[in-house]
Amino acid sequence: MYDFIRKLEFFDWWDAGWADKSARNLKSIQDAWIMSELRDAEGLRIGEVGGGDSRLLHYLKERNSCVNIDKFEGLGKGPKKVPEIDGIEVVQAYMGDFDEALEDESFDVMFSVSVIEHVADEHVNGCFKDMARVLKPGGRLLHAIDIYLYEDECVMPRIDAYREAVEMPGLGLRWHTEPVIGDQTKFRCAYATNSDQQLAYACSLVPSMREMRADMQVCSIKMALDKE
Ligand SMILES: C[S@@+](CC[C@H](N)C(=O)[O-])C[C@H]1O[C@@H](n2cnc3c(N)ncnc32)[C@H](O)[C@@H]1O
Repeated sequence: MYDFIRKLEFFDWWDAGWADKSARNLKSIQDAWIMSELRDAEGLRIGEVGGGDSRLLHYLKERNSCVNIDKFEGLGKGPKKVPEIDGIEVVQAYMGDFDEALEDESFDVMFSVSVIEHVADEHVNGCFKDMARVLKPGGRLLHAIDIYLYEDECVMPRIDAYREAVEMPGLGLRWHTEPVIGDQTKFRCAYATNSDQQLAYACSLVPSMREMRADMQVCSIKMALDKE
């Protein structure tokens, strides 16, 4: 699967009770997608990549063994303090470090929300290679990735970069379903987005992107792969 989260599916997740009904941002929509995918997870070893102050591991830890993998250095406005949550293991590493604390083929699921867009271009391949390394055969990779989309179709290098990274030979990853997004991409009203309030907040953090942000929407790629 390589697609965008759509509003209609979010409406279903809302009705099914997998959404935080008090939240008003794209993260909560991304969380609902991950919860819809992992709703039956039980007895699995699950790694959240860049979990920060994870919301989902609180639920997933009840029936699974969960690890929050993050250096907590404040990257992408993430937390700088290591969260201490009963029943959730923390490994202070970035995927791409090939950290020995994360053993080869030791996870059933690796997922992330709003993390992969913060990985620098030169580290994208290493990040996916490391995640493929720690996944068990038959394991699943799920990533909700923020991306700015414009009204007009344009080439978006990061869309190609993610695809090329997971299709690198030797990783043993295959798409869960055939990718449906390609190199010419534009915003569609059916895609779930972040709110304009979130955009205004983002502009206050990075004022130089103010004009650009006036003509774009923040959407979420959903990326799902299986390890052979
Ligand atoms: C925008 S925050 C998102 C935090 C959390 N996932 C959420 O939705 O609230 C991005 C987080 O990703 C972490 N991060 C960035 N690159 C990473 C990598 N290669 N491996 C693990 N964590 C990473 C950062 O440290 C930061 O905590």
